[in-house]
Amino acid sequence: MEKIIDLINNEMAAAFDKCGYDKAAAVVSVSNRPDLCEYQCNGAMRLAKALGKAPIEIASDVAGVLSDSTVFETAEAVKPGFINLNLSGSFLSDYIKRMAADSSCGAIKEENPEKIIIDYGGPNVAKPLHVGHLRSAVIGEAIKRMGRFCGNEVIGDVHMGDWGLQMGLIICQCQDKGIDPVYYDEDYQGEYPSEAPFTAAELEEIYPAASARSKEDAAFHDRALKATAELQSGRRGYNALLSHILEVSVADMKKNYERLNVDFDLWLGESDAQKYVPDMLKKMEDDGYAHEDQGALVVDVAEESDSKEIPPCIVRKSDGASLYATTDLATLVQRVNDYDPDHVIYVVDKRQQMHFTQVFRAAKKCGIVSPDMKLDFLGFGTMNGKDGQPFKTREGGVMKLSVLIDEIDEAMKEKILDNKKEQNADIDEEEVVKTARTVALAALKYGDLSNQATKNYIFDIDRFTSFEGNTGPYILYTIVRIKSILRKYQAEGGAVDPSCILEPADANEKALMNELTGFNGVMLTAFRELAPHKICSFVYSLSNAFNHFYHETKIMGQEDKARQSSQIALLDLTRRVLESCIDVLGFSAPEYM
Ligand code: ARG
Repeated sequence: MEKIIDLINNEMAAAFDKCGYDKAAAVVSVSNRPDLCEYQCNGAMRLAKALGKAPIEIASDVAGVLSDSTVFETAEAVKPGFINLNLSGSFLSDYIKRMAADSSCGAIKEENPEKIIIDYGGPNVAKPLHVGHLRSAVIGEAIKRMGRFCGNEVIGDVHMGDWGLQMGLIICQCQDKGIDPVYYDEDYQGEYPSEAPFTAAELEEIYPAASARSKEDAAFHDRALKATAELQSGRRGYNALLSHILEVSVADMKKNYERLNVDFDLWLGESDAQKYVPDMLKKMEDDGYAHEDQGALVVDVAEESDSKEIPPCIVRKSDGASLYATTDLATLVQRVNDYDPDHVIYVVDKRQQMHFTQVFRAAKKCGIVSPDMKLDFLGFGTMNGKDGQPFKTREGGVMKLSVLIDEIDEAMKEKILDNKKEQNADIDEEEVVKTARTVALAALKYGDLSNQATKNYIFDIDRFTSFEGNTGPYILYTIVRIKSILRKYQAEGGAVDPSCILEPADANEKALMNELTGFNGVMLTAFRELAPHKICSFVYSLSNAFNHFYHETKIMGQEDKARQSSQIALLDLTRRVLESCIDVLGFSAPEYM
């Protein structure tokens, strides 16, 4: 559906034209003084100087022509030359009616949809998921859904870290723990056992133990380095162990992501890109883009316009080993090969900004991706504790993601129970646990997504789980409230009919309609700017507008039945819009709360 602001602009342009003024100046925007008017146009001020006229004169001419407009109820020229505008009820309700009749509630879609790969999650195999991985999962999932909502083809890839030293550490630690020696026998030619020689819980202990040991035991560290190199150059037994590690670890990761309502189309990892490395490096050298520097192979990526130094991208260490950049470049080779995307978006901690600048430049320079392929880095800030420092357990350690989710589930359950006790409501413990999980997920995700992604934010369980203020539970509460009214209305035999929407009866109803019109462009804008927080601000304003309206309006007790049907249809549209938004943000609303 066309944007309401475009319709308004057209009306304004025609009025400027009719008065003989340049219609390029007829630009309308949402009012920054909502107490005075809904929209405003400052075009008269822009024209005044060139025309040698007082701006108020121009504004008055235009306002005069608009006096019989069907779009505006009022168009008022005010000093020094503003035109203050209020929409007419019929124009607004007509637009709302069309939104309600549309299956996407009038949202505009991408005109030229793209094929997009989103690289997010980025968990490291054999290490438990920790809160550092939370933001990538939550933001990446939202970006993926936003992209799809706007009509793009979007593929989510978890891009696991499964190729680093942690693998060598685990391989050596397992050897010392005495697992089946067959994996370490270089002469062995047969099949390896199909069952993994460790469980997920064991693996979670093996890695930290090995990592701690390598810091004190230099010989062990060297062994692990060697094992990593041997794994990477194809040693059979080690690769069999890698497969076991992956299998056990991925099953565990999937459980965690499921609790977050996050899922991936591709479960690829760094190891899947390795087969592309040798040819890629050879081509970079042959084409003259990569050169040796102190034994390492590097690509110069500095550009004249750089304001700070961008060091060369190292693609092979002097000992022949691959690096993080090598893997990311080879992954682009694989992605172009297998999917030929128009656009790749990385949702990764912003501290990796430099790495991605180097990788993107090297990829373009060496022709790994075409010049018009879009590469975006959405770098997010840290999730901090109340002390402003990166979030930790009470003991000061790194908190496992599963523990964090348990904590917020528990806090939400307590809040819901308190609420129920206050209202003397019946308590079905099992139902409460289920609802608490749904609401807790909203609290967690909204708490994250409502902040601009690039900024750090403070994880505050009390605030996130509150039913008041700009929180997930407040948004869900609004939806649940609407659902309950609709249920009551339907139980009394009423039906929702979008075609019966009337002109707004009062200022609160009009304000709700005005908020709803914003849905039309919010998804596309938020997606193009990779800014899920814009969807959050929209749902928050819309929820506020709804709750004001609801507070001031008797809907179920409404005597005028035509008015009642209209208000019910408006409520249903509000619910659909809110539910579309939270679905895109990656959570959902329960039936009751
Ligand atoms: N595994 C990495 C980490 O934990 C994140 C991976 C991000 N994605 C990428 N293509 N480099 O830091």
